[in-house]
Amino acid sequence: MKRNILITGGAGFIGSHVVRLFVNKYPESMIYNLDKLTYAGNLENLKDIEDRENYMFIKGDIVDGEFIRVLFDKYKFDGVIHLAAESHVDRSIANPMEFVMTNVIGTVNLLNAAKAYWKDDFEGKLFYHISTDEVYGSLGEEGLFTETTAYDPHSPYSAAKASSDHFVRAYHDTFGLPTVISNCSNNYGANQFPEKLIPLFINNIKNNKPLPVYGKGENVRDWLYVEDHANAIDVIFNKGKIGETYNIGGNNEWTNIDLIKVLCKVMDNKLGREEGTSEKLITFVKDRAGHDLRYAIDSSKLQKELGWKPSLQFEEGIEKTIDWYLNNQEWLDNVTSGEYKNYYKEMYVGR
Ligand code: NAD
Ligand code: DAU
Repeated sequence: MKRNILITGGAGFIGSHVVRLFVNKYPESMIYNLDKLTYAGNLENLKDIEDRENYMFIKGDIVDGEFIRVLFDKYKFDGVIHLAAESHVDRSIANPMEFVMTNVIGTVNLLNAAKAYWKDDFEGKLFYHISTDEVYGSLGEEGLFTETTAYDPHSPYSAAKASSDHFVRAYHDTFGLPTVISNCSNNYGANQFPEKLIPLFINNIKNNKPLPVYGKGENVRDWLYVEDHANAIDVIFNKGKIGETYNIGGNNEWTNIDLIKVLCKVMDNKLGREEGTSEKLITFVKDRAGHDLRYAIDSSKLQKELGWKPSLQFEEGIEKTIDWYLNNQEWLDNVTSGEYKNYYKEMYVGR
């Protein structure tokens, strides 16, 4: 089936993996990547597919409602996979309004544009919103987030994502817009901006810089390889039931400190350093404000109803990820020059 699919945020970390998957897997469909190219958006991520006939990049801001409306008329999108967002919790603490603008207003602009363009002819149409497990808040030592866990966001980032999820459901319930939402746990893999834990620490280990562990490093995250998330998005886009929510997770919980020790050990080995060398870089710093203790996802609905499951064991995924950053020094150099240095100073110096 030929479809015109709009993917927002396709130059970012997860978005670039989704764009590549769709361009390769659906040659009969046209894939439009709409991205503002903020600090987190990088067209280098898509060099290998940029010349493909079924791919087009559009530079633009989802906060500009009129621009988005015109795009729908021009390119006749029948499917939307919405990933564009401000995505880093620490930045949301420093500048919440940016997160309200992109994550909330931007999402409502897209919903309005889809509603206006599709009118009441929803046959074959889908608005798919990519969300996060952080909307559910924080778990204690036991239990898992399910699709019916009550929302309880704690950071400006998760509050903005929760708000956008509510708008997506409201447009389904009020206007009949065909929507689906997925809430995923922490992703890791190639092309992640080195402000997030794993690429930041890989880069710092490599450069013998301190590893800033927030608080005691006891917080727990459930890590999923990014290509497994992209595969889940493909499955949900094609087989998901309209109006439903699907949780996506790796069933792979780690305390930050244990995960960091694995990174140190694997990197000592790869860099030919004596075991224990990189662990000496661990530095405990002031905790993140409102730091959620534990995230863990129950993805059994997605596994049972749509047949998805993660393909990679963590040990394999983390090796592949470290190798990617070690083999892509130019990519790291490009994204850590300029503005990144100011960001790093503001976030970490004196913490
Ligand atoms: P990212 O920060 O790497 O990429 C975000 C992309 O959105 C960038 O390319 C950026 O240029 C673009 N963008 C930002 N503001 C925009 C605007 N106003 N208009 C158009 N484009 C804009 O983020 P990511 O980690 O790839 O996350 C993608 C989505 O997945 C987000 O919605 C995030 O909430 C969600 N998510 C992320 C994770 C994770 O672990 N990274 C887990 C679950 C869900
Ligand atoms: O759970 C899904 C979410 O995962 C996504 O919605 C977010 O977009 C994504 O950024 C991620 O959020 P986290 O806050 O969990 O990821 P981050 O990589 O920032 O941090 C992971 C853990 O590591 C967290 O407990 C904070 C800690 N940390 C992070 C950084 C950057 C440190 O101890 N030191 C650091 O320097």
